[in-house]
Amino acid sequence: MFDKSVYANRRQAVAKRISSGIVLIPGNNEAPANYAANTYKFRQDSSFLYLFGWNHPGLAGVLDVDSGEETLYGDDADIDDIIWTGPQPSVQELAGRVGVARSAPFARLAGVLRDAVAAGRRVHFLPPYRARNMLLLEEMLGVHHSLLKRYASLELIRALVASRSVKEPREIEEITRACNTGREMHVRAMREARPGALEQYIAGLVEGIAVSRGSMVSFPVILSQNGETLHNHDHGQVLSEGRMLLTDAGAETSMNYCSDFTRTVPVGGKFSTRQREVYSIVLACNRQARELARPGVTYRQVHEETCKVLARGLKELGLMKGDVDEAVAAGAHALFMPHGLGHMMGLDVHDMEDLGQVHVGYDEETRPSTQFGLASLRMGRRLEEGFVVTDEPGCYFIPELIDRWRAGGMHEEFLAYDRIEAYKDFGGIRVEDDLLITRDGAVCLGDEPVPATVEEIEETMRG
Ligand code: GLY
Repeated sequence: MFDKSVYANRRQAVAKRISSGIVLIPGNNEAPANYAANTYKFRQDSSFLYLFGWNHPGLAGVLDVDSGEETLYGDDADIDDIIWTGPQPSVQELAGRVGVARSAPFARLAGVLRDAVAAGRRVHFLPPYRARNMLLLEEMLGVHHSLLKRYASLELIRALVASRSVKEPREIEEITRACNTGREMHVRAMREARPGALEQYIAGLVEGIAVSRGSMVSFPVILSQNGETLHNHDHGQVLSEGRMLLTDAGAETSMNYCSDFTRTVPVGGKFSTRQREVYSIVLACNRQARELARPGVTYRQVHEETCKVLARGLKELGLMKGDVDEAVAAGAHALFMPHGLGHMMGLDVHDMEDLGQVHVGYDEETRPSTQFGLASLRMGRRLEEGFVVTDEPGCYFIPELIDRWRAGGMHEEFLAYDRIEAYKDFGGIRVEDDLLITRDGAVCLGDEPVPATVEEIEETMRG
């Protein structure tokens, strides 16, 4: 954990942005997998981690914006808990170690909130995403769970987004650690990508590295020969010569800071000409985004310029035609890249997505698009020094989408459907890095880059 002054300063900065009332940040609880006592690995809520630090279930933090009083609610372990889980620090000790002066049993929280509501005070809470916290808020605040998102506090959402978007140097160090683990995961996946290997086996090895280095994977491992399926969690195939293996995976450190990389490699270690051609286009997109990303430009602009690199490359291959700028403006390239260039990353792999993507990735100046492809861009707004964003262009040949667009005559002036047909068995390629926006540009996070060029990948796979 960081020093207690870090959490105290963050709480103060957030409270300063709230006009009045009470801020309620419930932590997460254990979630049963198949029966109550057999739980999924515990994952704390990221805003709770950010403000109150502790990776323990059964806690809630409250800031009284008007009085400045801070309280950590939770229950001390009793003898039954101690028998099964060992001695635990008291809630008062937990509070003290993150600079919170007061603690109280969890059961007192409902009364405090009821009194506040009765006195006409605003209780600020974030949009809940776990059923148990929805029920808790419904019980304590008397708001039906279906309405909780609507009543979540925009002031609190904005305060947290403002604070969490700009990463502190200590956070960058943690993310760098997560990236170093991510690199290990990807190098291992590359070396295991041989004909006859099971996807499931490689996915297990990759996940094991994340677990052994800190905490867990930052999202379920995506690893498949069918890279054209964007988030493919099916690991049921045996690798075969001539295919490519797409691995999209990252780690969380023990403090839950994340990494997120994607690499796509030829099974067996040697790119074919066709694979090399498409791969080189996607890598050029990834590099173009890194070149363009800097404070002051919108990530939407970076996305659009990157899409032009994709369209230009595909035009050279004979798969697209016509004017590149017009094709991208019309959204024709989205046949090949139906997703956005990237998202914020930090304590969540899609940082703060629970607070509402429109508040995290967009603002009054940059609004989300409804155009197919661009609509999936999670981060569009102007970049600032200290932001961490992913840079993850891709090129996919999705047979069902190609058939549908062709049947509908979609963007025929820009798409060479006859040539595209021959790529329906190609699969998909994505190349993803994690960028820190610096004072005058962007750098890839991680002490050593994950192999990315054709030569680097082939050399790594030989090793
Ligand atoms: N890399 C996985 C995701 O962005 O969802």
